Amino acid sequence: MTGRLSTPELINLHPAAADMRRLVLEGLSRSPKQLPAWFLYDAEGSRLFELICQQPEYSLTTTETALLEREAPAIAAALGPGTLVEFGAGSARKVSPLLAAMQAAALRPAYVALDISAEHLQAACGRLQQRHPEVPMLGVCCDYSQLEQLPAHPLLSGTAHLGFFPGSSLGNFQPHEAQALLAQFRRLLGPGGKLLIGIDQPKPVERLEAAYDDDAGASAAFAFNLLNRLNRDLEGTFDAEAFRYRARWVAEASHIEMALVSQRDHTVRVAGVAWSFAAGEPLLTETSAKYSPAAFLHLAAGAGWRAQARWSDPAEDLSLHLLVQADSPQEL
Ligand SMILES: C[S@@+](CC[C@H](N)C(=O)[O-])C[C@H]1O[C@@H](n2cnc3c(N)ncnc32)[C@H](O)[C@@H]1O
Repeated sequence: MTGRLSTPELINLHPAAADMRRLVLEGLSRSPKQLPAWFLYDAEGSRLFELICQQPEYSLTTTETALLEREAPAIAAALGPGTLVEFGAGSARKVSPLLAAMQAAALRPAYVALDISAEHLQAACGRLQQRHPEVPMLGVCCDYSQLEQLPAHPLLSGTAHLGFFPGSSLGNFQPHEAQALLAQFRRLLGPGGKLLIGIDQPKPVERLEAAYDDDAGASAAFAFNLLNRLNRDLEGTFDAEAFRYRARWVAEASHIEMALVSQRDHTVRVAGVAWSFAAGEPLLTETSAKYSPAAFLHLAAGAGWRAQARWSDPAEDLSLHLLVQADSPQEL
């Protein structure tokens, strides 16, 4: 049996410096100030996110991984054959049980990992390729929310495109953006495409706030790293001492809001422009919306998706929804 190359090919479509500058100017002009969540993920941000996943308060990763491991054969059967396309692959660990189950069921999967964090993506794909030497793989460094089409590549031609979007990352988008993103994924995946998506559900406020403000300080370090990135990549002059980290549940929006809150009136230069921060003013680093299954399926229906199946952990903390395109024939 011949194994594949140990390092999968990587296509780099990372936004150009000018686009990053434009996004920073737009984001800091908003009220409240907020940048797209992907700015959190430079190489150090990706490393810190891995640290968050190891914190006992942040149970999402262990719960979703256990669910995927338990249900992989059923999920593989429901997905059928095709190329798994993961949006925001991160460490690309969650896909491993799915690939194994698809291989065991002779579904001959291929895998395409999309992520904004190039170095981390390359390392993750390299590790995954070692575990699944027979699975053809490709990495694409890009902002998936701005992708007009999947790259022209043999792994993406002639097979069904099976989207995989775990980690409840949809929650990082405001509901109208989330719906637009789901519609965008539908276009990217093409006719007959399916989407397996992990969605975290509402739970007691204390649990949610602790998950995003762990005792070890991993979540805070992750947020503060945004300032380092802006200082390094966009000639920023942020002083971390001038901010404190805050994670709070906003009931009306059904989301956790993460912010760096200015501790005093001061001015910062970024991207060649001076920005004033008032004492108490937040720079929102990320939001994480929580959806009940019914609320999520309502959002997905508005983007042209309908439910085929749902799997959940025993405590109903999160769900894996398998969506099919609303105009495709009903499947059992
Ligand atoms: C919350 S982590 C989830 C990682 C992994 N999917 C999981 O479930 O553990 C989000 C991942 O998506 C990537 N990401 C965030 N926004 C992105 C965007 N707009 N385009 C591409 N990748 C993005 C980040 O680099 C990070 O690896």
